[in-house]
Formats: sequence, C-alpha cells, structure tokens
Amino acid sequence: MTPDQIHENVVRQYREHINPYLAKLMHFAGFGVEVHGEGCTIRDHEGREFLDFLGGYGVFSLGHRHPEIVAALKDQLDHLPLSGKTFFSGKQAALAEKLAQLAPDPLQYTFFSNSGAEAVEAALKFAKATTKRSKIVSTIGGYHGKTIGALSTTGREKYRKPFEPLMPGVEFVPYGDLDAAKAVIDSQAAAVIIETVQGEGGIHIPPAGYLKGLEEAAHANGALLIVDEVQTGVGRTGKMFGSEHDDLHPDIMTLAKALGGGAMPIGATMFSQQIADAVFSENPLAHTSTFGGNPLACTAGLKTLEIIERDNLAQRSHDLGERLMTKLRENVKDLDLVADIRGQGLMIGVEFSMDEVGELVTAQVVKRGVVVAYTLNNPRVIRLEPPLIVTEAQIDQAVEALTGAILETQELLAAFA
Ligand SMILES: Cc1ncc(COP(=O)(O)O)c(C=O)c1O
Repeated sequence: MTPDQIHENVVRQYREHINPYLAKLMHFAGFGVEVHGEGCTIRDHEGREFLDFLGGYGVFSLGHRHPEIVAALKDQLDHLPLSGKTFFSGKQAALAEKLAQLAPDPLQYTFFSNSGAEAVEAALKFAKATTKRSKIVSTIGGYHGKTIGALSTTGREKYRKPFEPLMPGVEFVPYGDLDAAKAVIDSQAAAVIIETVQGEGGIHIPPAGYLKGLEEAAHANGALLIVDEVQTGVGRTGKMFGSEHDDLHPDIMTLAKALGGGAMPIGATMFSQQIADAVFSENPLAHTSTFGGNPLACTAGLKTLEIIERDNLAQRSHDLGERLMTKLRENVKDLDLVADIRGQGLMIGVEFSMDEVGELVTAQVVKRGVVVAYTLNNPRVIRLEPPLIVTEAQIDQAVEALTGAILETQELLAAFA
C-alpha cells in the first residue's frame, strides 16, 4: 500500500468501526498514522518525524521504546507475561515494596490496576469503605477519568452531563481556593480528591499552602486525602511525586501513565495501614482486577523507577522545564496573544488570551514537526509534557517551533480582525 492508501484505510476503519465522529475530528486536525516511536520522536506513515512534546499526556516520561524497558519486557515475555493469579507474583511484590520505599508516609500498600481511571475507582471505594461516609470533595476543572466513579469526580459538565445520574455526593469547589474547600469538608466527607498540579484543567499550579491546607482540613474532619498523581507522578514535576513539593502525607495516592515506562498500561492505588484494615480485613478479595499487577506491567514499573532514580530524571525535569519556560517567556513577552506560561518541571501550560487559539496554535506547532495538544478541560491552554530524557537541543527546537507558531497565529488573527 502507498502511504496515502495506508492513511485512507485507517481513517475508513476508524470511521466505520471505532468512532465516526472521532475519525472526522482527527482527520480534520491533520494527523497521520503513527508507525514508529523512538526516544523523543514519533514517525508517521509518510516517514515524517515529529518531536513528541505531548508525551502521550504524560505516559512517555522515558521516551518511546526505552532500550532498558524493552529488554526487561522481552525477558519477562519469555518467562511469564501474565499472572495466573493463584501463585504469589514476585514482580508485583517487588514493585509494591519499591513504591512504598519511595512514596510519602503513610502509603505502604499498593493495589494494581491497568489505567488511571481504575486507580481512581479503587481510591474512591477505599475512601468510602474506610470512613463509612460517601461525600467526596473534588475541584472544578479536575480530571480523574471517565469511568462512572472517576467521572463523578471529574469537574467538567460536558463530560458528566450525558451520563447522569452519576455517583451521588460529589461536591466541586474551585481549584486553589482553600476557604471554599474548607466550607464543604465536614464530618460527612469521606475524602478530598486533588491533583498536585491540575493537568487537564489547564496546568494550574496550586498556591503555596493550598495542598497542605486541604490535608489538614480533611484530617481535622476525619476525612481522607486522595492525591491523584496519575499525571504528576514519577518524576514529571521535578520530584518523584508531586506531593513532595508540599510535604504532603496523603492517605491514598493514585499513579498510572508514566509508571508503565511508555511500554505497558498500569494503574496503582497506594494506601495506608488504616485503609488496608478497613477494606480487606474481612474480605481479602474486596477489590480485585484480572490483569492488574501482571508481571509485564510490574516489570516495566520496576525498571521505570530504577531508571528515574539512577538517571536523576526528576531533577532533569525541573532543570529542563525551567529552560523551556525561560526561553519561551523571553520569545513571546511582547505578544498579547500569550496570557501566561506556567509549569512545574516538564509539565508546562501555555495559556492564550482568547478561546480557540489553543487549537490554532497546536495545528501550527504540529506543522513545524512538534506534537503538542490543548488541555481537555481548558482549550485556551496548550500543554507540553515531553519525555524527561529530552535533550537541551530538542527543548530549544520546540521553543523555536512554538514561537513561530504563536507568531503566525497572531498574524493570521490580525488579518481577520
Ligand atoms: C490526573 C488524572 N487522573 C486520572 C486520569 C485518567 O487516566 P486514564 O485515562 O488512564 O483512565 C488522568 C488522565 O489524563 C489524569 O490526568
């Protein structure tokens, strides 16, 4: 097949057998078919190479096909890819122990699943079972996934409305507003669920003292703190966990995305002794998953943590994030179109002063060979989440592409004004 035929065929298959409306949207955005990933680049069906500055929304912290992850997985494939679930799993045990060594106290145990939403589902169930309460406090713009429980705590009407009634008892407050949160964290609350940087909501960095204030308010009312680190976890924000920036001690922490080393799906819900006793003492099988904790995913998780620690990738994320933001701020400081550039490590948002501009700039950046995307709950913001192994030269290349794209968009808008 010619490259054009490959593209047409895949778009047709999407249209006829996956989702006709998504097919139209992706086709309109001009995306090709991905065929190969390596390091920080993705190659499409025409052989065009793109710098991956979206990183699968945080999945590719180690880049694509990190050689040590691939080697570890090939070896595991030759022994035991999936678990029979009756024997003890050495890989699952080792990953749980490693996570407990790295994560803040009192997180000691891990329930493994296969995605971020599943990790959140477990977190919500554990909070309810432990406190015997059902009220959950979440944030407007917060994103926790699209399964029923997780969606119930996702702070955007657009995604929730068509599927109502959802799980009852969820109250939303503005992200970053401690007083608003304190007003609803009461003796009815089972938990507060919070991202340490609000990702899909538009890369919002919490004000100093906010997260710690939530923790204190929750604990003062007998409620739990669930920190959703599906996107911020394992090195992304310049620390191994986003919780470390504020010295948080969450009762529950969710992980997914980058923990799979860019090669395996994985979800993890970490929890304390108190929660282990409340959820599992009477029924050790109270919450289970067939594929969760499988040896392949746990092999990837173990290797990922080893590489991030050994290669100091959290520090690298901090340093390169600063480099990117400083250079980009300098380049666009005179442009009205850019309202803000903010981030923590290599989790960066560029906010525009007008709606729909995110989409236009995204298309222009992609045209320049760099993949980025706007945030799901806030289309005014495009987000940059390159692999943590990105080089300084690649950071500079992306800054050039972004600057060019923003300038061209500003000129286009001026021509239509
Ligand atoms: C903070 C957060 N929680 C949960 C999720 C849901 O993860 P998944 O898409 O793997 O279900 C996401 C996905 O973007 C996320 O960013």
